Amino acid sequence: MLGYNGAMKRRLLELLADGHLHSGAALAANLGVSRTAVWKGVTALRALGVEVQAEGGKGYRIPGGLELLDAERIRRLLPASAAALLAGLEVLEEVDSTNRYLADLAERAHARSVLAERQTRGRGRRGRSWVSPFGRNLYLSVGWRWEGGIAALEGLSPAVALAVRRALGGDPRLAVKWPNDVLLDGRKVAGILSEIHGDPVGPCLLVVGIGVNLGMGESGAAIDQPWADLTELGRQGRNATAAALLAELLPLLDRFPRSGFEPFREEWNRLDLCRDRPVRVHLAGNPVDGVARGVGPTGALLVETGGVLRSFQGGEISVRAR
Ligand code: BTN
Repeated sequence: MLGYNGAMKRRLLELLADGHLHSGAALAANLGVSRTAVWKGVTALRALGVEVQAEGGKGYRIPGGLELLDAERIRRLLPASAAALLAGLEVLEEVDSTNRYLADLAERAHARSVLAERQTRGRGRRGRSWVSPFGRNLYLSVGWRWEGGIAALEGLSPAVALAVRRALGGDPRLAVKWPNDVLLDGRKVAGILSEIHGDPVGPCLLVVGIGVNLGMGESGAAIDQPWADLTELGRQGRNATAAALLAELLPLLDRFPRSGFEPFREEWNRLDLCRDRPVRVHLAGNPVDGVARGVGPTGALLVETGGVLRSFQGGEISVRAR
């Protein structure tokens, strides 16, 4: 939340979002506040992590501007078939984690999506954190009631990765890596964190969280793995990309309990970054070395090791040097 005086700060942010230089006097007049209040507003925006430059007595600007998220605009951009599946869409200024926020809504999270301008404790897989600066990138979660427990989820993660790749435009430079990373030129551009809450063998809530690097800016320095930014493929709108993600994800969640992974297998094996490369599978116990051979009919990773094809449902993989 923007906190005390939140409406004024929000309005200030909207004015500065165009990336142009605005004088303190013009901002004060526009907002109907004093110049001191404008300066306090700028300080508050900086505290959120927004880069606001003060240009020697001339005014303030956000370099490059920001495209703020707008729930109504995202809704309007959705195809009717996806909009019909959506029970609610919310944009938060700030939250610890959009996944955590939906999990707390329990049953009310079904078919709801939440996006945030900033996450203060964005979560990645395997206890990692997800760098989530304000007004940049996308942090989006969707909740879905899931009837069949964990067993019915088999293969959903790779299917979601394919949906995300399609939503990001399906450029040939975008590949997938098991279980659910999307990479641009071999560097991670989007990550997916699927979590279930409730009965692991019965009805539960599935929360699918997606982070897309879409203009990371200076915060990228904090990322401890090779990463890419979708802006490398040209300018991508945040609202349009959010709508494209929902347009792919909602029908997938609706259909997957009936379709399972099989219809996605060929697409995965065509776009799999690791296919036929030497990999190491990191499991809880000893790592397994072999050659990746794509995925099986349920989305399990296939690795050839010692002349035997083994199938893995859990773990992570890394590509080994030849
Ligand atoms: C990964 O480690 O690859 C998964 C990253 C998932 C990040 C997204 S951002 C939106 C949602 N909220 C979170 O806290 N995490 C996910």
